[in-house]
Amino acid sequence: MATNTYLEGNFAPVAEEATVTDLEVIGSLPPELTGRFLRTGPNPFSVDPNAYHWFVGDGMVHGVELNGGVANWYRNRWVRSPEASAHLGEEPIAVAAGGLFRGNGNTNVLAHAGRILAFEEMSCPYVLDRDLGTIEQTEFGGSLPVGTFAHPKIDTATNEMHILGYAWTDSLLRYNVIDANGAITHQSTVEMGASVMVHDMGMTERFILVMDLPVIFDLDLVSKGRRLPYRWDDSYNARIGLMPRAGQTPGPEGDVIWIDVDPCYVFHPVNAYDDGDNVVFDVVRYNSMFKFDSDGPGDGPSRLERWVLSPSTRSCEVTVIDDTSQEFPRINEQLTAARHRYAWSPQATIDLLGTSDELRGNALLKHDMQLGTRSELSLGAGRIGGEFVFVPADGASSEDDGWLLGYVADLSTQTSELLVVDAQSMREQARVKIPRRIPAGFHGNWVADSALR
Ligand SMILES: [Fe+2]
Repeated sequence: MATNTYLEGNFAPVAEEATVTDLEVIGSLPPELTGRFLRTGPNPFSVDPNAYHWFVGDGMVHGVELNGGVANWYRNRWVRSPEASAHLGEEPIAVAAGGLFRGNGNTNVLAHAGRILAFEEMSCPYVLDRDLGTIEQTEFGGSLPVGTFAHPKIDTATNEMHILGYAWTDSLLRYNVIDANGAITHQSTVEMGASVMVHDMGMTERFILVMDLPVIFDLDLVSKGRRLPYRWDDSYNARIGLMPRAGQTPGPEGDVIWIDVDPCYVFHPVNAYDDGDNVVFDVVRYNSMFKFDSDGPGDGPSRLERWVLSPSTRSCEVTVIDDTSQEFPRINEQLTAARHRYAWSPQATIDLLGTSDELRGNALLKHDMQLGTRSELSLGAGRIGGEFVFVPADGASSEDDGWLLGYVADLSTQTSELLVVDAQSMREQARVKIPRRIPAGFHGNWVADSALR
């Protein structure tokens, strides 16, 4: 019988949707956390183990609602893509005209312009209600023929959302800006070197940072039945593009300043910011991707690096911040596009999130870029953590004054916790006990009541 890593351990999907109330809380939940922690991930209905890849499984959102120090509920809901509605025997919801695919919202979930949006690459986002029901798919009142990717950057001063889109059908990268009311206000395109996988981006006050890296679309892989038809290309010219943000006038260098970098792959930058003429870009870097492990992302380990990009000399100076393998870095996102001091990331590579090896995936790291130091919180043997999201405290007095929220799964008991960590001290603040296993997933965010309309 065929096996597939991405159907085993904590990658294995759960069979049912659940609503659990009266959740036990250990420790004390900060009473000011009034809203819900949401995280999405793949949870396939049924798959061929020979063709399944984790990146494409049907999206399921897991949420815990908090209010005044109490945990109201845990819910898990499939995003109602047309396929999900059909599997569940429900009437399909309204889908957008755009998107290369219908998508399934399995990659990121966040609030923007008063709505909860669930994203998957090459599709349009689904709009969810506060109980995780799917309302509709949106094109932001405009046209998104290939949809968007799943890692928008939100300017916290203007609430504008900057987001890219790409498709394996061509080598154009689409740049879109969605305003604070949820309407498209800018669309432009950039020609990439080939049809490359563009999972995320950087943003500074001046630039959008475009990652043109050597993971390319390969039609042969489609004919072989591979659902993620991308591979490493040793001969590809790896480069970062500094594209003026919408509203910024291009300099004499032209529309995009391209800077060659050593071949590598980056799923997730930490943050980017302007530093005088230079641009600082902190990233989780892999030496390659989909090269040694064609089903990826087993081309580990990763490491945390600082890239200083010079638009004038078109050079990139690299410093290793931490050579520990890690993924899913987050910052205090009030500092998106500005100088950050701290970053938090789980000590795990994506391919290890489903295993319960006590040496793997069991620590949450805090990086202090100013002092060059690292502290950590052990999650405990056999406990698997994923992305942790920073939520600032009310009236925060420093960049790290707030909490980290993330799910931790325990395979031995098939249960999970929403773990709340004091981001300053890296000590546990509270555990919300969830009597269900939450499978390994991708990205999430805190959605305060005040962020919804
Ligand atoms: Fe991602």
